[in-house]
Amino acid sequence: MKFDELLEHTAGLRWNEPLERLAGARLQRLADPHGSLAGLRQAAGARADVAAEVAAAFTVGETWFHRFGEQLDAAALALRALERPARVWSAGCSTGEEVYALLGACLRAGVDARALGTDLNPDAVAVAATGVYPQRALRDAPPDRVARVFTLDGPQVRVKPDVRARARFGVHNLLRPAPEAGFDVIACRNVLIYFTPGAAQQACEHLITALAPGGLLLLAPSDPRPPVTETLEQVRVGGTVLLRRAAGPRRARGAVRDPLPVLPVPRPVAPPALAAAPDLAQARQRAFVSPHDPQAQLDLSRAFLHAGQPARAAASLRAAQAQLGARGESWETAHLRAQAAQMQRAVQDAGGEA
Ligand SMILES: C[S@@+](CC[C@H](N)C(=O)[O-])C[C@H]1O[C@@H](n2cnc3c(N)ncnc32)[C@H](O)[C@@H]1O
Repeated sequence: MKFDELLEHTAGLRWNEPLERLAGARLQRLADPHGSLAGLRQAAGARADVAAEVAAAFTVGETWFHRFGEQLDAAALALRALERPARVWSAGCSTGEEVYALLGACLRAGVDARALGTDLNPDAVAVAATGVYPQRALRDAPPDRVARVFTLDGPQVRVKPDVRARARFGVHNLLRPAPEAGFDVIACRNVLIYFTPGAAQQACEHLITALAPGGLLLLAPSDPRPPVTETLEQVRVGGTVLLRRAAGPRRARGAVRDPLPVLPVPRPVAPPALAAAPDLAQARQRAFVSPHDPQAQLDLSRAFLHAGQPARAAASLRAAQAQLGARGESWETAHLRAQAAQMQRAVQDAGGEA
């Protein structure tokens, strides 16, 4: 099995060349017992445990403690309305800094919280469970936040025992249904951005199902977004807009309560950044193999554009648009349409008739 198929199938991840370069050393190590990269590919196609190791080798684990700290503060503020301990989940927590930051924000807001941190990558989860980090993990975090969560331990920082005791960690793949339900906050930030649109939608559905009525879903600004629907609404907390699972007509006891105004206007799907151009030969082959897949046509259009062939780029774009026109509304379709609109501008700028 090729790495791109394997990644998408195993972890929902979108393959690209820079990612494979980044994974190079880790892949070589995994390949050793199989004799070569081809041997590793073959083993991964046949064995789920090897496929999981390969997928983990492709993950990007960059994270730090005070990342989008104001969003965590806003969520913690909303949790003050709860009349019971809060349950929070960092889904795709990497080495765990986000888990401890979320707990720190809750403690500062006077919220009694318990956290679950999960990630696909078992090595990252093992680091998260130690709660020990190099000082650079703190980056620009304000000193009072750091002091609530960490103690200095030589050149490192260590999570305080009372904070550590509130956190549990485990390995979990977001393509699978959530390991637990009834969360008041789920942070899944800077994870879905690496997913294919279909996998991001699938993961989002699992996350929304795992939210308690009135629970909040935290995504990063650059992440693809699920559409605002009857089950997912926007709320403003202070200066921050968050997504919330609608509590429904019969609000569940203990759900985050309403004084937060619900924003009335559905949010348009944010156009994804124009992805790097795929290799033309590969894009051709993919479009040939999957002629009715609009993503394949869009990728081919981008590859033609990159190769300086705007007329062909326009033709592939028209094929994608025709396929999208025949589709019903879904988050994936909206995401693809946003990509197509971006491609249309790029093709027109290059002189193609789109
Ligand atoms: C860039 S880190 C984000 C860490 C943290 N949420 C943050 O915002 O700083 C992305 C994490 O997503 C994890 N990940 C990727 N695919 C996943 C999947 N299918 N299921 C669970 N976690 C996944 C990676 O292992 C990586 O640790």
